[in-house]
Amino acid sequence: MNAICSLDDVPDGGGLEAAPSVLVLRRGGEAWAYRNVCPHFSIPLNYEPDAFWTYEGGLLMCAHHSAMFRFEDGVCVDGPCLGASLRRIPIRIENGVVLVAEDVLTSDARR
Ligand code: FES
Repeated sequence: MNAICSLDDVPDGGGLEAAPSVLVLRRGGEAWAYRNVCPHFSIPLNYEPDAFWTYEGGLLMCAHHSAMFRFEDGVCVDGPCLGASLRRIPIRIENGVVLVAEDVLTSDARR
């Protein structure tokens, strides 16, 4: 496993692109990671580096057409790709550090 950030690097209720195309979302002591690729048009969810729009510590909004995704499972609950999901990346949190498998950092983000 490889360290990509500390939990404290991720804003509580927000997101951080902790590695290329690896988006980490955090709520308190919980975190989830997804490919930073919107299932609507297969483009990044943000316009600017690390500018992720979130609501009430539980929903991530794509900057392009406002699809809304739940932090905990990446499912789109509103917007043009309703029912589609972000691609989950398994993580482990140890001593406040977010870890991912090595192949996550070397594989093509769009596959
Ligand atoms: S590209 Fe994300 S909602 Fe259209």
